[in-house]
Amino acid sequence: MSALIPGKPPKTSLVVVAAALVDRDGRLLVQQRPEGLAMAGLWEFPGGKLEPGETPEQALIRELAEELAIDVDHACLAPACFASDMLGDRHLLLLLYVCRKWHGTPVAQHASALRWVRPVELHGLDMPPADKPLIGLLEALI
Ligand code: C5P
Repeated sequence: MSALIPGKPPKTSLVVVAAALVDRDGRLLVQQRPEGLAMAGLWEFPGGKLEPGETPEQALIRELAEELAIDVDHACLAPACFASDMLGDRHLLLLLYVCRKWHGTPVAQHASALRWVRPVELHGLDMPPADKPLIGLLEALI
């Protein structure tokens, strides 16, 4: 007898790390995805995919240097919450870290714009589906 398996299993899994950078006034940094990328125009927490062999923290430190030209110390990354979503036929696991201290001033290297927003303002932004469920969790944390 064979079991019925509802839906199709995802073809691949993708782990993405992102940071909620919090400034002294409790505002958060979001960046706008540029033209030519999937979900162009949406506002996201900066971050990206893990490369082979990287820990999530190593990947996030690399991504923040590449995307914002800032240096973050490993000890300043606090795991906060995560979201699980489908991206087409891929399973996406998004790990969000809170970071309150970094070296340098964030400058967009790839994004079309950066914005510092209060947590409550995140509800009014168009964000990727994986980032949306993290808003409520972040509001409770910050
Ligand atoms: O930025 P990058 O293209 O490396 O991100 C990989 C994927 O992770 C994107 O396709 C995007 O859908 C997703 N992502 C996300 N939320 C973020 C960062 C990336 O959903 N904050």
